[in-house]
Amino acid sequence: MHKVAVYPGTFDPITNGHLDIINRGLEIFDSVIVAVLENAKKKPLFSAEERVEMIRNSVDRRTEVGSFSGLLVDYMKKKNTRFELRGMRAMSDFDYEFQMSIANKKLWPEMETVFIMTDQKYLYLNSSLVKELARLGADISEFVPKNVETVLKKKLQ
Ligand code: COA
Repeated sequence: MHKVAVYPGTFDPITNGHLDIINRGLEIFDSVIVAVLENAKKKPLFSAEERVEMIRNSVDRRTEVGSFSGLLVDYMKKKNTRFELRGMRAMSDFDYEFQMSIANKKLWPEMETVFIMTDQKYLYLNSSLVKELARLGADISEFVPKNVETVLKKKLQ
């Protein structure tokens, strides 16, 4: 059976930490759907279309990229999979992830979340940090793929 997982997030922008989770997720699942939450709450720097485009330019063909608004469980049902993929960085991620996982299970008991522990290289990484470093003119080539670095620099000009 072809096993598919949805990897949701804001991805403003995608980082090498996210890509590490996607690549390792592909060792467990046959394909991964990266789902960009439009997420007005976070006031993203990039539009959902721009975030999707940057992800498309960073992943291989076993990875589909889409966007959604509303409930994750509804998007997953539409995509015909009950498996969610999430990364876990430090203990500080645990409470939030646990809470979301319980809320999702309440909404859809068949849903399962598979957590992958981050590589220690990316333990401290998040999209806000990357944006802040880029704004301050620091070298971000270690944290994001080349296409993201280019788009981010252009956006901040
Ligand atoms: N490497 C690097 N950074 C990572 C990372 C990794 N492996 N994993 C997470 N991060 C960073 C992100 O870049 C992001 O950084 P930022 O806060 O600076 O932007 C931060 O950690 C949060 O991660 P993210 O995965 O983007 O979580 P989120 O809180 O933005 O989104 C959703 C979580 C999309 C899964 C959740 O909000 C959702 O499902 N929403 C839909 C509504 C819904 O169904 N709600 C019911 C469930 S409660």
